Amino acid sequence: MSAQECAISHWPDTDELIAKAKRLVNSPPRPIRRDKMQEYLDFFETQCRGSKVVTAEAAKYIPGGIQHNLAFNHPFPLSIARTDGAYLWDVDGNRYIDFLQAGGPTVLGSNYGPLREKVIEVLEECGPVTGLFHEYELKLAKLINKHMPSVEMFRMLGSGSEGAMAAIRAARNITGKDKVIKVGGAYHGWSDQFVFGTRIPGTGPHEAAGIPEGCLQHTQEFFPNDIDGEQGLRALLEQNESQGGTAAVILEPIGPESGTRPVRRDFNGRVRELCDEFGALLIFDEVVTAFRLGLGGAQGYFGVRPDLTVFGKCVAGGFPAAGGVGGRADVMSTFSAGIGSGGQRTLVGGTLSANPLSCAAGYYAILEMERTQAPVLAGQAGDKLCRGLQAIIDDLDLPFFVYNHGSIIHLETHGVLLVDVTDPDFFAKVTRRKEIAEEMGAAYTAEGIITLAGSRLYSSMADTDDVVEEAVGGFARALASVEGVG
Ligand SMILES: Cc1ncc(COP(=O)(O)O)c(C=O)c1O
Repeated sequence: MSAQECAISHWPDTDELIAKAKRLVNSPPRPIRRDKMQEYLDFFETQCRGSKVVTAEAAKYIPGGIQHNLAFNHPFPLSIARTDGAYLWDVDGNRYIDFLQAGGPTVLGSNYGPLREKVIEVLEECGPVTGLFHEYELKLAKLINKHMPSVEMFRMLGSGSEGAMAAIRAARNITGKDKVIKVGGAYHGWSDQFVFGTRIPGTGPHEAAGIPEGCLQHTQEFFPNDIDGEQGLRALLEQNESQGGTAAVILEPIGPESGTRPVRRDFNGRVRELCDEFGALLIFDEVVTAFRLGLGGAQGYFGVRPDLTVFGKCVAGGFPAAGGVGGRADVMSTFSAGIGSGGQRTLVGGTLSANPLSCAAGYYAILEMERTQAPVLAGQAGDKLCRGLQAIIDDLDLPFFVYNHGSIIHLETHGVLLVDVTDPDFFAKVTRRKEIAEEMGAAYTAEGIITLAGSRLYSSMADTDDVVEEAVGGFARALASVEGVG
């Protein structure tokens, strides 16, 4: 992938980021000043009444009142009425800059008109679903293969979680081995086997309520970047040799939680070498990175060829039923569908998987990204935003830090996911920092900016210089209200 096609203009110094993270979580938290926080909360009370009413009613019928884990809900969730490009509007008519971008899939910007029109054409022609083959399935698979040659074949599914489940099943089927190694902190969806070491490395089954131990017995985690340590990847692979071997190593190529725990530039290449040495499949979870970081995905940027790639989000251009798995033809062939197949096949399914709407949306979204260079433009917006945020942090002399991998930007003010699991105050620290994260997110929202969980931002092609400038102004006001500033 040439530099012109890639969203990442430079790879941040990983060791410097790790040192900054350590400093942040070991220094006293810096929340928004109480008087200013009250002002921000007043914004919600006075300007977001419609949201308050409807989401209060939702809490009676929907657990917690919201359906998405990342829906912003402090002091109460916003009810969104309209989106366009870089902006969204709530039911009360407040306009926000949208750095959530639905959690990542909309590199072209929200509700992108040319794509919407193509999808409407497909809907008018054959509706959203037939259960039979539609040519858009082929068109999408061919286009993915053009940009990611490792994806010799592609099986579309309904979500990234399903894609990860399918990848592991195929890896086990083809290798005859059971163990799966992941990087601690990574999120690969919510299937039983993957609720292990989620969000924070070393937490093992901490979030696995409702999941029998047996489901997790073959899932292992190692700390990001730890290849050669005592409990590093090599040690796990060696240890597994006497227990039937390792079917696969799965990772998010820019680091767990979309790079919240960044990995060194050579990390993926080193994992590739170890997988080859031990006969394990290398699975890239590119649910976030595919197309967002460039049409060739993170694998194009790193020049590392995984055996399998998990897709989600962008693969349906921001439309529903976004997921799938692709890769080596011999492994992928085990997914063969149809009534005649069986035996050693890797069984996956999905009534609505690969429907014409999702396939057409993914196909046209990728074509539009090719035409407009959207990933690169979104990455440039990310760079600008990051520079603006860094200037604020420097001006205000805050212990915070900011970095980006193209259009994925991390603004760390509380470091909730950066707390070390071995810290004796781990749970207290996480709890306190979660509260601060919520407040930070609420402060940004009151300043007209929606983020992911108060610390992650996805930029899109719609983030022009004006949008970035407006956002930096809002962040500057919020961060100037942090305790101890001035
Ligand atoms: C890296 C990664 N893998 C898998 C998933 C799961 O995808 P989905 O939400 O479509 O099931 C996500 C979702 O955020 C993700 O970020």
